[in-house]
Amino acid sequence: MAIHKVLRMGHPLLNQRAAAVEDFNTPELDSLIEDMLDTMQAEDGAGLAAPQIGVSRRIVVFGFDQNPRYQDVPSVPRTVLINPVIRALGDVMEEGWEGCLSVPGMRGLVPRYSAIEYTGFDATGAPLQVRADGFHARVVQHECDHLDGILYPQRIRDFTRFGFIDELAEAGLLPLQTSDDTNQSRGERS
Ligand code: NI
Repeated sequence: MAIHKVLRMGHPLLNQRAAAVEDFNTPELDSLIEDMLDTMQAEDGAGLAAPQIGVSRRIVVFGFDQNPRYQDVPSVPRTVLINPVIRALGDVMEEGWEGCLSVPGMRGLVPRYSAIEYTGFDATGAPLQVRADGFHARVVQHECDHLDGILYPQRIRDFTRFGFIDELAEAGLLPLQTSDDTNQSRGERS
C-alpha cells in the first residue's frame, strides 16, 4: 500500500483524457487501485481519479460513510469504477458545493445532473450498472470528469460562488465547515 501525492490544478496530466483499462486482474491494476483507495482515505477525499495520482487511466474510486470534508451529505457506497460511462436520467440539474483534492482549500458551486445511471467495471472486471442521485450522482460526475481532463472549476457558472473555504464560510455562503467544525453552522443547502 502507498499513499501518493495528489497532483494539483496546473499539472498538465490533469487536463488530459485518460486511456481505457484493457487488462483486469493484473498486479499493476490491483496495486494501483489499492493505492488510490489508500490515498483517498488518507486525504479524506470523497473520491479520487487515477490521473490525480499521476496515472492517466480511466479508473475512479469514491465512497464513504461519513466525510469530514463534506459533513452535511449522506453516505455514498464505496466503489471502484473502471472505464465508466455516465448517462443522465432526465435533464434536471442541481447546484451543489464541490471541492477537489487537486484544488486544495477551495470550494465552488457546480451544476450537475440530479440523477444518473453509470456503467463500467469493478476491480475484478465484473460489469457494474448503478442508478444514483443527489451527492452520490455528483461525486460520480466529478470523478469521471477527471478522466476527460475536466476539473470542477471549469463547470462553474457563477464565479461569485467559487473561492477559499474560509472566506466563503465567513461570508455565510458555504454551508459546510472545515473538519474541526463538525457541529457548527449547518446552513441551508443550495
Ligand atoms: Ni476532484
